[in-house]
Amino acid sequence: MRILGIETSCDETGVALYDSHHGLMADVLHSQVALHAAYGGVVPELASRDHIRHLLPLIEQTLEQGHTTLDQLDAIAYTAGPGLAGALLVGASVATALARPRHLPVLPIHHLEGHLLSALLDPSAPKFPFTALLVSGGHSQFLSVERLGDYQLLGESVDDAAGEAFDKTAQLLGLPYPGGPALAKLARQGNPQRFKLPRPLLHSGDLQMSFSGLKTAVSQCVATHTPDDYADIAASFERAVVDLLVSKAEQALRQTGHQTLIVAGGVGANQELRHSLKNHLGTQGITLAFPPARLCTDNGAMIAYAGWCRLQQATQCGSLPLSSPSGFTIHPRWNLHDYSSTWQPS
Ligand code: KG4
Ligand code: ZN
Repeated sequence: MRILGIETSCDETGVALYDSHHGLMADVLHSQVALHAAYGGVVPELASRDHIRHLLPLIEQTLEQGHTTLDQLDAIAYTAGPGLAGALLVGASVATALARPRHLPVLPIHHLEGHLLSALLDPSAPKFPFTALLVSGGHSQFLSVERLGDYQLLGESVDDAAGEAFDKTAQLLGLPYPGGPALAKLARQGNPQRFKLPRPLLHSGDLQMSFSGLKTAVSQCVATHTPDDYADIAASFERAVVDLLVSKAEQALRQTGHQTLIVAGGVGANQELRHSLKNHLGTQGITLAFPPARLCTDNGAMIAYAGWCRLQQATQCGSLPLSSPSGFTIHPRWNLHDYSSTWQPS
């Protein structure tokens, strides 16, 4: 089976081709970072317009790279939510317009399921069950994953997502959008022990997380120091986030009893986080799986792959839910539980 995957939920236009025998055959991405940089964050209307401009050429490029024509596809998967409504509509309408005349299944995929499964794209990746740490610009969650679609939320951030905290802190340090990679780069030159920043909810006994107090502590630090201290502030901030995530990950694994931790989402690209998880959990016999850094942030590959997983499962159960025959669906706000129930046989 060969699936085209389309991702347009925020500020990356991603298109990819996944084949059940050959794996990932093509994967192209257009980033809107330069477009939004002047505004310090994503401007939704500009994002939608840019997706419109780039999506069809990217699909052509993907098919060319994968030596595939539209008529050779078995399905088209797109990110149906959560995300920016206008941006989601671009992917949804193009996926539907291409699939309908060819009588192909259209597969509405949850963006976080895409992130969650991206670590499994590697043929040598661990299998279900596993505990997942999903850390992106919009979400910070621990999930217990027994099998495809069986996602139990164990805990999440009660305020800012980890990526959002990186972005806001980077802004305080005068770094360009998106802040995560820029802050991580600056942190490499700094001393992570210099500032004792708080670790909110570290000892809460559950898997809830909080990052907004940390950002406030950084703003006080910035107000009383000079730019010469910014590398130390960045390193101390990164260390606090990593300490929190590693400690909660350890707790999550104790709670689920799983031997595997999968880390996904943009913050999963953070090298300090990867090293610390390996140092703390790898040495305790836990199997760690990270998608390659380029698949941690938004991309079409994770949507094509999730589409294949869902298509395979639905074909086996004889329950392929095509979006409504005359239209398509998007869900700017969508939890994974409601999403999974859309795939239950009716
Ligand atoms: O998963 P993603 O591309 O988009 C969402 O679904 O939100 O994640 C983007 C987030 C941004 O907040 C970005 O600053 C952060 O991931 N990020 C990083 C790194 N690379 C991206 N944060 C820390 N370190 C990084 N290396
Ligand atoms: Zn994402």
